[in-house]
Amino acid sequence: MKVAYAMRAVLCTAMLSAFASFPAQAEKIIRYAHFHPAKMEMSNHAAAVAFKEHVEKKTNGSLKVQIYPAGQLGTAQQIMEGLRLGSVQYATVHEGGISSIYKNFNIFGMPFVFDSHAHAYKVLDGEFGKALGDDFLKKTGIRLEGFADNGLRHFTNSKRPIKTPEDLKGLKIRVQPSPVFIEMINAFGASPTAIDWSETPTALAQGTADGQENAVMTILSASLYQSQKHVTLDGHVYGQFAYLVNDRFYKGLTPVEKAALDEGSQIAIKIHRDIARELDMSAKEVLSSKGMTVTELTPAEIDRFRAVAQPPVRKYLETSVSKEWTDKLIKAAEAARH
Ligand code: MLT
Repeated sequence: MKVAYAMRAVLCTAMLSAFASFPAQAEKIIRYAHFHPAKMEMSNHAAAVAFKEHVEKKTNGSLKVQIYPAGQLGTAQQIMEGLRLGSVQYATVHEGGISSIYKNFNIFGMPFVFDSHAHAYKVLDGEFGKALGDDFLKKTGIRLEGFADNGLRHFTNSKRPIKTPEDLKGLKIRVQPSPVFIEMINAFGASPTAIDWSETPTALAQGTADGQENAVMTILSASLYQSQKHVTLDGHVYGQFAYLVNDRFYKGLTPVEKAALDEGSQIAIKIHRDIARELDMSAKEVLSSKGMTVTELTPAEIDRFRAVAQPPVRKYLETSVSKEWTDKLIKAAEAARH
């Protein structure tokens, strides 16, 4: 009797270890990083939630999406490294962060290169965007799923209204850690200070910098209006967020999973663009309702900002970043006007 009992125990153990060597189909996890608070009115977050819903539904849960909002997985530069290594599978990152590992992304710091959102979409969704994405993948091992708006960047500051480029002189302006933004602020005769986004609200609140430049969405996302009384709607740069996925991870997916991820990216980008564009278009009302003094500029006044900033930044891009990609962007923008 005892022998039969022992035999059964041995058999059970053998069966369990046999099962252990055939694990249930492991689910694949997408760690998805972005930099906005986890609120549905925030473009990055609403887009991430829609992506998660689509991808999990379309793959019957074989792909699981874990969203890490508000920079929980690190600074933009750290996220880019994570995407390269594969410890972060998916992220939306702005141009400054991307250019920390791929310098050609600096070309998006070219002031006044796009005339409107529709103009920018035509360039970014066309051949130019595809060629840049291919080069980016080759050099970094990260796939570019598409572009969405980081919005029209405007100057804010705590000191005075800015009506002309000269009014910026002497102000200490925080920029994203990106040499091209430093170049632009120098061109205006202001003093640039590069600070990562995660530390920017505190730096402004403590007066480490007098001002900064970002779009309405970003100003709202960190309540910058609490320390920045003045905003000038000059729209000097149309900022980018790129939707990025680690290529090794992507290549390990089944065809169904790849399709779900690609569709999810396009759904997310549409939502992101719609929210950001809507806010850009209602910048005056939105920012005044937060107590900011809003300075609007006429087209002739904006031309003065362009005349001061564009030539030196273009020269910098051509000599220190890439003449090839600067020319390609300008050519694609020109072609998209016709
Ligand atoms: C920055 O200025 O660092 C970026 O625009 C911040 C962001 O959009 O998350």
